[in-house]
Amino acid sequence: MKKIFAANWKLHKNPFETRDFFSDFKSQIKTLSKNENREIVFFPSSSCLEALSQSVAGSEIKWGAQNCHSEIQGAFTGETSAQVVKDLGGHYILLGHSERRTLFAEKDEGIAKKLTLVQKLDLIPLLCIGETLPEREAGKTNQVLESQLQKDLAGADPTKALVIAYEPVWAIGTGKVATVDQVREAHLEISQILGRLGFSPSTSILYGGSVKVGPLAKEFLALPHVAGFLVGGASLEATSFKQICESE
Ligand code: PGA
Repeated sequence: MKKIFAANWKLHKNPFETRDFFSDFKSQIKTLSKNENREIVFFPSSSCLEALSQSVAGSEIKWGAQNCHSEIQGAFTGETSAQVVKDLGGHYILLGHSERRTLFAEKDEGIAKKLTLVQKLDLIPLLCIGETLPEREAGKTNQVLESQLQKDLAGADPTKALVIAYEPVWAIGTGKVATVDQVREAHLEISQILGRLGFSPSTSILYGGSVKVGPLAKEFLALPHVAGFLVGGASLEATSFKQICESE
């Protein structure tokens, strides 16, 4: 199955820095994206979407927004339209990232509405789920994953494209990476939940949370049900992200 390497740039880089990144990355784009078993996706901040789309034009690199509104247009100051992402040639929308859930109070019901719209527009939702440290310590990881999937996929179409990212909240931006056993168990659990909810158990499930270049990345990719990575900090620099994309 195709491995997906996704870069979440959060609120980093301006349009000039975005173009500079790709002038470094350009020579690598061809070789990286020609590999048919690998898909590379960038999620820049909304003000850099156009610069990024122009920088990767003509390559196999995919891209998308970090969030969208559940309506395609209207009086929604400060929001991003999934339709505009589509019009600019984008492919994905990141949904339910833990920073959206905690810092911007996003609820599962709202995420479900966005996900339904994204699929209707034939964009691919990359849905982030994951437990907090207190939830893990209380033995509630599987319960949290099941509840998030059930609610966030409430209006989803199982026949349309969907990608999940397992991002334990305690591993995001903290330098604390989940262990191989934790990733193996969580990804297996997610695949089984997806099956129970009527989705394909072989839906791509990415791991995210302090992913960096190194032997652990290779070990994760060799696990069943690990279809790639969602990378924050280590995707901001062209060489380190390129090395992660080559960690198979
Ligand atoms: P990180 O971020 O790699 O910096 O931990 C991952 C994410 O937030 O998707």
